[in-house]
Amino acid sequence: MKRPFYHLAIESSCDETAAAVFQGGALISEKVASQEALHMPWGGVVPEVASRAHQTQIVPVVESALAQAGITSRELGAIAVTQGPGLLGALLIGLTFAKGLAVAHQLPLLGIHHLEAHILANFLHPPFPVLPCLGLVVSGGHTHLLEVRDPLTMRVLGSTQDDAIGEAFDKIAKVMGFPYPGGRHIDAQARQGDPHRFLFPKAKVGGLDFSFSGIKTAFRYFLAKHQQAEETFVRDHLADLCASVQARLVGMVIDKVASAIQATGLTSLAVGGGVACNSHLRTALEQLISQQGGALFIPPASHCTDNAAMIGVAAHYQLLAGRKGDLGLAPEPQMAMGWRAN
Ligand code: KG4
Ligand code: ZN
Repeated sequence: MKRPFYHLAIESSCDETAAAVFQGGALISEKVASQEALHMPWGGVVPEVASRAHQTQIVPVVESALAQAGITSRELGAIAVTQGPGLLGALLIGLTFAKGLAVAHQLPLLGIHHLEAHILANFLHPPFPVLPCLGLVVSGGHTHLLEVRDPLTMRVLGSTQDDAIGEAFDKIAKVMGFPYPGGRHIDAQARQGDPHRFLFPKAKVGGLDFSFSGIKTAFRYFLAKHQQAEETFVRDHLADLCASVQARLVGMVIDKVASAIQATGLTSLAVGGGVACNSHLRTALEQLISQQGGALFIPPASHCTDNAAMIGVAAHYQLLAGRKGDLGLAPEPQMAMGWRAN
């Protein structure tokens, strides 16, 4: 049997420059260069800083992935790159580089949807989800609830109307004095805290949509009020604050996933995005999905956060479906996903 050809995948939509080499559906090598330290002093991702960092990282990152795979770019059969959604300048660096390589070697160029790829990261590690199932993307930039019909057909059931859940974690963490990105610090502190100690408001959003900006604002006012009376309030109650706010953020996601199960009859769930690393979210989802008799799929942490392996696996399914690629691809910062329910 003829062995499938190698394809290269590139991700540069936000603050990670990443490349991966595949042979068919098999991940051969990957490299991720995180820009976290560059953005930390600013308390968030600075688009111009991100573009410049992608520009300096893209060549060494791709070279390193190819070297680890033991091949040169001449041995590639296709190139895949994140087309959107993401930061325009950041997307442009990856896309322009990929296009150059595709033209030089006369290879098909496949544009990949970043959020679909977060879900497809679950097809990097067996056991694979059985489709159709529900999909949940919880990242710093997005919160989407999906119906995953097949690897290339995902229907949006609901999404955030304002902040993404990761953004809410990071902004709340910042108010408590944690460095950016603060989501994981809340997670770590929450382990020693009481999730029932403080009660934060729950957003009232219809259908399967989310809203996370209200809780962020409520948290800020809550702290300001208590700090007036007690200057060391955050320090004295740090673990309880983290556990309580995390319980509320996670609870809002759990409620919507439960509603999506009711609405669709689908009981299995594939999760992706950086917030899928959150230990309380994982436990709460496991509980909900097992109660429903479904199966829960969450990639290992390194494939929850932004990476190129997920772009490569998405490309694998496009290639299987006979997609030919397009050298005229343009970045799409607001790239739409599938179609909306209702
Ligand atoms: O998917 P990702 O790497 O980048 C985007 O596409 O946005 O997600 C990054 C987000 C950040 O908001 C970060 O704080 C959050 O994932 N995050 C966490 C945890 N680990 C990463 N949030 C809560 N708990 C965690 N353990
Ligand atoms: Zn992402």
